[in-house]
Amino acid sequence: MKVLIIYGSTEGQTRKIASFLKEEAEKRGHQVTLSDATDNPPALTAGYDLVLIGASVHAHKYQTAVSHYIKSNAGVLNKTRSGFFSVSLAAAGDDTEDWKELNEITNALLEETGWKPAHIEQVAGALRYTQYDFFKKFIMRLIAKRHGRPADTSGDYEYTDWAKLKVFLEKMLKN
Ligand SMILES: Cc1cc2nc3c(=O)[nH]c(=O)nc-3n(C[C@H](O)[C@H](O)[C@H](O)COP(=O)(O)O)c2cc1C
Repeated sequence: MKVLIIYGSTEGQTRKIASFLKEEAEKRGHQVTLSDATDNPPALTAGYDLVLIGASVHAHKYQTAVSHYIKSNAGVLNKTRSGFFSVSLAAAGDDTEDWKELNEITNALLEETGWKPAHIEQVAGALRYTQYDFFKKFIMRLIAKRHGRPADTSGDYEYTDWAKLKVFLEKMLKN
C-alpha cells in the first residue's frame, strides 16, 4: 500500500508516534511518506491507498496547520481510506469529563473540516516538563497535580501505549 502520514506536533510526542507508525507500516512492506503539517506537506493525490493524520491537543485545540491541511484536501481525503490519531493527556486517564471534552474537541475538528475518517484513535501523549518554558511548566504542573500525575518537573513522563497503536495501524492497513 502507498501510505501518507501527516502530523502536527508541538512538543514532539505526535512526531514520535507518527514515526513509529511509519516504521511499523514499512516493516509490513508498505511504502510510507511522512510529513509535518507545518513543513510544506505534499498535497493529497488519489495515488495514496491510506492516509493517517495526527495532531495533539493544546488548550482544547489541535494544531491549525493540521486543520488547514485537512480542509484543503478534504475532497480527496474523503475518497481515500483514512484514520485520525489524536494525542492528548486526557486520553491517558479515565476521567469521564475529560473524555467527554476530548470527544467534543475531536468532533469539532471533523465538523469544521468535513473530514470523515474510517477510524479515530485517541492516543495518550506525554508530559514533557524538560521541554516546557517557565509558563508552560507552571500550568502543566498545576493540571498534572489536579489529575494525580507526576509534579516533579525534572523529568518527562510518557503515557503512549505502543502496542495499542500497532492494533490501530493493523486495522487501518486491512482493507
Ligand atoms: C500548554 C499545553 C496545553 C495542553 N492542553 C491540553 C488539553 O487541553 N487537553 C489535553 O488532553 N491535553 C493537553 N495537553 C497535553 C498534550 O496534548 C500532550 O502533552 C501531548 O503529548 C502533546 O503532543 P505533542 O508533543 O505532539 O505536541 C497540553 C499540553 C501543553 C504543553
